[in-house]
Amino acid sequence: MNAANKSADVQSGAHLRLVSDRAAGTGASGITLSGVSKTYRSRDGDVPSLRPLDFHINDGEFFVVVGPSGCGKSTLLKMISGLLAPTTGEILVEGEKVTKPHGNVGIVFQNALLLPWRNVLSNVMLPIDMKKLPRDKFLPRAKELLKLVGLEGFERKLPWQLSGGMQQRASICRALVHDPRIMLMDEPFGALDAMTREKMNVELMRIQRETGKTVLLITHSIPEAVFLADRVLVMTERPGAIAAIYDVPLPRPRSLDAMADPVFTELVQRIRKHFFTQSSLD
Ligand SMILES: Nc1ncnc2c1ncn2[C@@H]1O[C@H](COP(=O)(O)OP(=O)(O)OP(=O)(O)O)[C@@H](O)[C@H]1O
Ligand SMILES: [Mg+2]
Repeated sequence: MNAANKSADVQSGAHLRLVSDRAAGTGASGITLSGVSKTYRSRDGDVPSLRPLDFHINDGEFFVVVGPSGCGKSTLLKMISGLLAPTTGEILVEGEKVTKPHGNVGIVFQNALLLPWRNVLSNVMLPIDMKKLPRDKFLPRAKELLKLVGLEGFERKLPWQLSGGMQQRASICRALVHDPRIMLMDEPFGALDAMTREKMNVELMRIQRETGKTVLLITHSIPEAVFLADRVLVMTERPGAIAAIYDVPLPRPRSLDAMADPVFTELVQRIRKHFFTQSSLD
């Protein structure tokens, strides 16, 4: 680090708490990872994807993971949702050990993954049908969510009749419809144009604030991470490990104006330094 960078670091340290010191939870609520690693076994050999990770996400926290492509972010999310088993370690969600896919999470995958034969509304209603919950109770909620994300009037369209961004917005409604306690979101806004993306960021923050949901969101965008998060976990390159966890000391509620706050710009800069030699993050 050269002298100029060092002095900038010291200056920004006056505004920032550099590394998170939030109290670790007990494991009875939120999400706890203890020694969780993943090595994919394939015919061509082993692919170590995640080094052992230990961290806790508090109940009601907005927790964002940022890291370079291929560092194991989607792998992490799939393990927390129970779709994929860790190679080592243990994951607790709301105090329960994760051993199989579980119901109390809503998942937004990196691709929208809508069922092509179902229209938009019945794609959104899929978790209700799968859980055999009362349709008439949840139908108004599904319609309300579609309206919220600007898809009113598209309820009867099939996925191929929607743009990529619209499909992704429908998949966000599907993750929210059964009102899960925890939202796991894998680059949910990656396919959206910049303006819609900012609008969705504000909407998601509003939903999270009003409902107190625990959110784990993965993104490539450092500004998006800082804007949304209570804490940002920065990952190293594959096999991913924790490079740092930062508190975001910006007050809530946040508007887009928060991006002009010196605390915001300094933290974005600081996180960017972790990826100095990489171009995969914006
Ligand atoms: N089913 C699989 N079999 C073997 N290797 C896999 C499998 N899935 C992922 N990998 C490897 O594990 C690593 C992590 O993959 P993962 O999809 O978790 O990365 P990511 O951080 O989500 O990347 P991106 O930002 O590009 O979405 C990659 O290097 C990938 O090659
Ligand atoms: Mg991914």
